[in-house]
Amino acid sequence: MRHAHLGWSDPICREVRGTGLMEKPRLMIVGAGGFVGAHLARDADRAYTVLRTATRGNRASGIPIDITSAPTVERAFEVARPDIVVLLAAISDIDRCEANPEEALAVNVRGAEHVAKACARANIRLLFASTAAVFDGGKHGYCETDLPAPLSVYGRSKAEAEAIVRGLMSHAVVVRFAQVIGFPVSPGTNSMVESLFRQWKAGKPTPLSTTEERNPLHVQSLSEAILRLLGDEKAHGTYHLGAGDSISRYALGKRLAKLGGFPEHMVEVQNGAVADRAPRGRDHFLLTEKYERRFGVQSPSCEQEIARCFHGIA
Ligand SMILES: NC(=O)c1ccc[n+]([C@@H]2O[C@H](COP(=O)([O-])OP(=O)(O)OC[C@H]3O[C@@H](n4cnc5c(N)ncnc54)[C@H](OP(=O)(O)O)[C@@H]3O)[C@@H](O)[C@H]2O)c1
Repeated sequence: MRHAHLGWSDPICREVRGTGLMEKPRLMIVGAGGFVGAHLARDADRAYTVLRTATRGNRASGIPIDITSAPTVERAFEVARPDIVVLLAAISDIDRCEANPEEALAVNVRGAEHVAKACARANIRLLFASTAAVFDGGKHGYCETDLPAPLSVYGRSKAEAEAIVRGLMSHAVVVRFAQVIGFPVSPGTNSMVESLFRQWKAGKPTPLSTTEERNPLHVQSLSEAILRLLGDEKAHGTYHLGAGDSISRYALGKRLAKLGGFPEHMVEVQNGAVADRAPRGRDHFLLTEKYERRFGVQSPSCEQEIARCFHGIA
């Protein structure tokens, strides 16, 4: 079996009508300024003409879009003329969603609907990023056919968006993952590792749960998996992505602190739920056999993915 890190098949270039020139497929990444999006945009550049979108606050770095507004979505599609769309844009902070359910509904549900409708109208392939939080975390190991039972506003918004995407486009790809690790291309995204390192550098210990288990994936492994799915024109439906084993947030924090050269006491034990935070499932271990079988790869281990955070860092 090949390791899941290794290459993907490049998509087929097509002729620009009547010119004899070959053009790479046009890949629009909605949410390209985010943690996952910036990595994907960089990695996809070889095989695709990458079209980045950016929100109003961030227009300099991409085609302007606010997915809560159908007209801006339509306009972005007119400007970008994509062949394929990856929808990563979301309110990805679970506590922010819990505190602002209307915002979560507007961005994560209605926003996804606007993008999926634009794709469906023009028959454009769509890959939608969802989450393990669509499950309640009450058992060890979820496969793609398990029924969603979200505990949080965030999980509900993503489960609803998935249903809308599938309803509008039976050939869409939905990818679910539990926890993405690694450093961001540039600061200010949803990168958990960056946020932990910032706190530890400031000498601030972080409580991390000993009871919440996840199977994390390094952001570049995720980007490679997304590119592999995009390169397979027949792939559709839901795919779970993640490491082949799981780890508690506490144990993950301990390993990151050790490999990052921080003292052990920077990671403190957190037991049970924390007041004023969104409910989190206990065990979000996503089974990845469907993806492994389709591509003849083996999911990496947690330890490999944690080590990958430090590749290239002296
Ligand atoms: N990171 C994880 O551990 C994790 C785990 C499971 C699932 N996911 C899912 O994976 C996807 C990517 O996550 P991430 O960690 O990269 O999140 P992120 O860093 O918070 O990035 C989210 C992106 O969404 C964009 N966005 C927010 N509101 C928007 C709006 N109204 N219109 C257009 N764009 C908007 C932001 O654009 P600007 O930068 O232009 O403001 C940003 O680029 C999300 O769907 C998230 O729910 C992430």
